[in-house]
Amino acid sequence: MKVGIPKEILCNETRVAATPDTVSRMVKGGMEVLIEKGAGVASFIRDEDYATVGGIIVENTEELFAQSDVILKVQRPVLNDKTKKHEVDMMKEGAVLITFLFAMTNLETVLVLAKRKVTAFSMDAVPRISRAQMMDALSSMSTIAGYKAVLMAANAMKKFIPMLSTAAGTVHPAKAVIIGAGVAGLQAIATAKRLGGVVVAFDTRPAAGEQIRSLGAEFAPLNVAHDQAEDAGGYAKEMSADFYKQEQDLIRKHSKDADIIIATALVPGKPAPTLLTEEMVKEMKAGSVIVDLVVEQGGNCAISEAGKEVVKHDVTIIGTVNLPALLPVHASQLYSRNIFNFLQLLAPDKKDLKIDFNDEIVKGSMITHNGEVTHKGVKEAIEKASISFPGGSDSRSHW
Ligand code: NAI
Repeated sequence: MKVGIPKEILCNETRVAATPDTVSRMVKGGMEVLIEKGAGVASFIRDEDYATVGGIIVENTEELFAQSDVILKVQRPVLNDKTKKHEVDMMKEGAVLITFLFAMTNLETVLVLAKRKVTAFSMDAVPRISRAQMMDALSSMSTIAGYKAVLMAANAMKKFIPMLSTAAGTVHPAKAVIIGAGVAGLQAIATAKRLGGVVVAFDTRPAAGEQIRSLGAEFAPLNVAHDQAEDAGGYAKEMSADFYKQEQDLIRKHSKDADIIIATALVPGKPAPTLLTEEMVKEMKAGSVIVDLVVEQGGNCAISEAGKEVVKHDVTIIGTVNLPALLPVHASQLYSRNIFNFLQLLAPDKKDLKIDFNDEIVKGSMITHNGEVTHKGVKEAIEKASISFPGGSDSRSHW
């Protein structure tokens, strides 16, 4: 079986879907691994590093796609400016694609994959069950985002984070407020603590309190009963507009004197709740910093802007997207291991595909197969949006 690793082409993407470590594992299992020339450069991996462990470097992009039975990627397939062809069109009919598809927001891509009879798996749709932890790429990337968010805030804030006792007087520690203590939030708490900050964290799930406290931070409870706050799978439930209003009032008590706010609160599949209004930002200290990690889902802060760092009311509001791409070495390392573990599920003999279509992880993450959109939620979204296959390849150039 031939596995292809193309160079990522979506703008500002620095990650790559395989490292020399995972290529070596695939080669040892009996797979042939083709890597596009320069695919690892932005993650500081040289072509020679792949070649040393048995990877085959391919210069011609079209050749790589045409030969591969399985394509491993980071970002969804898009039009390749170099070949002037869409990545889906360059794939073999019936090939397997494993990548982050975020299918619900890329419905047209899903239809084109189905038309090409690609069996597409989306890493963001891998169910968060114990057996799938080693494939949980969303958690890997959120860990990176939580860490990097604090460093970005520290850099943007023009003061120390730790307490310092000097001959010239005492510098008080910075106060960090973390909203949402899931994977990204807990890593943000740990990072802010390591830098010497005083940390207060909020989460609707009372169960998060123990984890927050174990990291040495203060848990600011929101007075929600356990069964009201989370579903059977342990995920936060969406709350009422009244609840969010009350939550804003509780957060306001801490946002007023915060130096850093890292916002990560989200209920999967729902728009991000507004927890920091413009009024609350106005009341914050001049020079403080907000990093809104959920800006692409609408933002926890009412005035954050996706892809931008802005200063409003003397507060820096960072809405940078794709933070994992700012730490490509470890982002690629973790993502590659997640995707390699996923590939092993599809090829248990380590060499050839033998997909168990009844497996819970396969069923949950498979988006298209054999010309059909197989994922129930995505299929319903396509029907609801009344989208049909978008004409010829020219009409696809925009997505
Ligand atoms: P998660 O599901 O583990 O954590 C979200 C947390 O928010 C949960 O603990 C939940 O209980 C909490 N929450 C929900 N509603 C709340 C509310 N009203 N008040 C307080 N807490 C509330 O998700 P994870 O993996 O930590 O990711 C968080 C967000 O960060 C996601 O939206 C993800 O898309 C985003 N993200 C952004 C990146 C970027 O580059 N901008 C990179 C990685 C993740």
